[in-house]
Amino acid sequence: MNWEAWQRSWDRQQELYLPDREERFRVMLEVVEATGGKSPWVLDLACGTGSITTRLFARLPEAMSVAVDRDPTLLAMARGSFDGDSRIAFVVADLEEPGWTLELPAEPFDAVLTATATHWMQPATLARLYADLATLVRPGGVFVNADHVPDPETPKLNAVDEIIQRSHQEHARAEGARDWDEWWADVADEPRLAAEYAASRAIFDSRVRGVPQPLAWHRARLREAGFAETGVAWRSITDAVIVAIR
Ligand SMILES: C[S@@+](CC[C@H](N)C(=O)[O-])C[C@H]1O[C@@H](n2cnc3c(N)ncnc32)[C@H](O)[C@@H]1O
Repeated sequence: MNWEAWQRSWDRQQELYLPDREERFRVMLEVVEATGGKSPWVLDLACGTGSITTRLFARLPEAMSVAVDRDPTLLAMARGSFDGDSRIAFVVADLEEPGWTLELPAEPFDAVLTATATHWMQPATLARLYADLATLVRPGGVFVNADHVPDPETPKLNAVDEIIQRSHQEHARAEGARDWDEWWADVADEPRLAAEYAASRAIFDSRVRGVPQPLAWHRARLREAGFAETGVAWRSITDAVIVAIR
């Protein structure tokens, strides 16, 4: 299987929605390096195909990563891409289920990193996940979350963001970018991923999506969870890279 090609197509599909995705990753890793040095011990939370760990190893080759997710298709792509790389270990877990941390190594992490994942969760579930994360990060370590954090109190600005998004997507589509549904249709067309695809659909098709929470909500929940300080390392009108220091 050409895992590199799947990685490229995943990135391109994600960039359809997140044109500044690489900039977010860059900012996240700057925070990691500043707080965890050149060989950080990182948890790639809701890792998908391993996008964050790929960038982590490119920037900091001595880093070590534990990558956790529950999507069989994306995990197969991640495992295939990192085959033989002893710097990464995979954990299959549902982050929304209490007890998911039991599957992890005991040593506290220098950094927990996640991107474009937490807006899927119900607020009460995410608040509980944040409490779990506070127990996994060493004092002085960081949790960094790049995600959608639209502010319901700025509807006009949010509308501007929608116009910007539409314009970007029109250009990307004209250049052949596949959207989320088309990308998954491509997976469905690959017989060697048939079992993984069926398992992914069984998990995610019935899922009830949460409503993305605004920045203030995240900062308050992270403080309540036990993080000492929270702030923003990058933001656009509706998205942000939120940093919490333990
Ligand atoms: C849009 S993808 C982002 C993946 C990666 N961070 C990236 O930026 O390419 C969201 C990921 O969150 C994972 N995810 C969502 N809910 C999850 C849960 N409850 N437990 C584990 N993983 C979850 C999905 O399986 C998917 O891999």
